[in-house]
Amino acid sequence: MSELILSIRDLRVTFDTPLGPLEAVRGVDLDVRAGEMVGVVGESGSGKSVTFLAAMGLLPRSAKVTGSVMLNGQEMVNAPGKVLRNMRGGLMSMIFQDPLSALNPVHRVGDQIVEMLQAHQSQLSDKDAAKRAVELLDIVGIPQAAERAHQYPHEFSGGMRQRVVIAIAIANNPKVLIADEPTTALDVTVQAQILEVIERVQKSFGTAVVLITHDLGVIARVADRVNVMYAGRNVEKGGVNSLFDHPSHPYTRGLLASLPHEGAERLTPITGFPPNMLMPPPGCGFAPRCSYANDDCMKSLPELRVFGDLETACLRAEQIIVNGASS
Ligand SMILES: Nc1ncnc2c1ncn2[C@@H]1O[C@H](COP(=O)(O)OP(=O)(O)OP(=O)(O)O)[C@@H](O)[C@H]1O
Ligand code: SF4
Ligand SMILES: [Mg+2]
Repeated sequence: MSELILSIRDLRVTFDTPLGPLEAVRGVDLDVRAGEMVGVVGESGSGKSVTFLAAMGLLPRSAKVTGSVMLNGQEMVNAPGKVLRNMRGGLMSMIFQDPLSALNPVHRVGDQIVEMLQAHQSQLSDKDAAKRAVELLDIVGIPQAAERAHQYPHEFSGGMRQRVVIAIAIANNPKVLIADEPTTALDVTVQAQILEVIERVQKSFGTAVVLITHDLGVIARVADRVNVMYAGRNVEKGGVNSLFDHPSHPYTRGLLASLPHEGAERLTPITGFPPNMLMPPPGCGFAPRCSYANDDCMKSLPELRVFGDLETACLRAEQIIVNGASS
């Protein structure tokens, strides 16, 4: 097994809001090993982005963060500003869904890459950094990279801008690249191309990638391992094949049943809504929507337990595994 690069333990994030404390992340455990592609899926509001914004030290002051985020052996939770600045764009980078807001509209794209390179490699001359910037644009598939380096973000299409953002993110050869819904704002044909660039980066440079997405189909195609999140917790995780072949958590089962698949006469969406995180329930967050729920589920919060090669946070996982689809 390859080296553990990112290890998140019992991560909790609470926002101080005018309506009271909002528990966005409630005890997430997640590992990323060198060179692997880890998928993170879950409904909107399940805490996917906040988990990784916390890991990057990018949350506002209104956020209270506890737990541990070890990156390459160094603690990032409540680390000094200098440690976090060195880490961001160095050991770990993050790309977001909207490439336009990630780029500075008044700077040429080549200069933005140079800036990122020199922020972490101060010995790099302007000439060498400019040369490397063109190489990076080429790596992410921008044609005529030398000329394009002199252009401004508005002269690029959405897909090309996202390639520039990826070039900036990989400029210093990070060990971990976090891609938070990197294709959502792009049109369908371009989405596949951007995923292909991310996969190429992972394979060519051995960069570990965390791919956050709503799209289980994408995860099935590209990820090695998957973390399913629900109401601020990871409810099931494991290898991609095991999770797709025999999921044990009712929420994962629901997600898979709502995917178009061969032989399905109709899709079965998960009905109901996730809990209000201003008032999270004492028991399992999925209970109001779960056809397997019993009284215990309303009282105790399920922890992740090992079942074969999956980890599942469900009090009734044993019965679900034995009984298959029946409750
Ligand atoms: N700055 C903030 N202040 C207060 N609450 C926040 C803040 N950022 C996020 N939240 C809340 O934290 C919870 C988790 O949000 P998060 O953005 O991590 O969800 P997500 O899983 O990434 O969803 P999506 O799929 O829509 O991107 C949500 O309830 C959200 O409203
Ligand atoms: S703990 Fe109970 S409510 Fe939660 S997923 Fe399992 S069976 Fe359903
Ligand atoms: Mg998000």
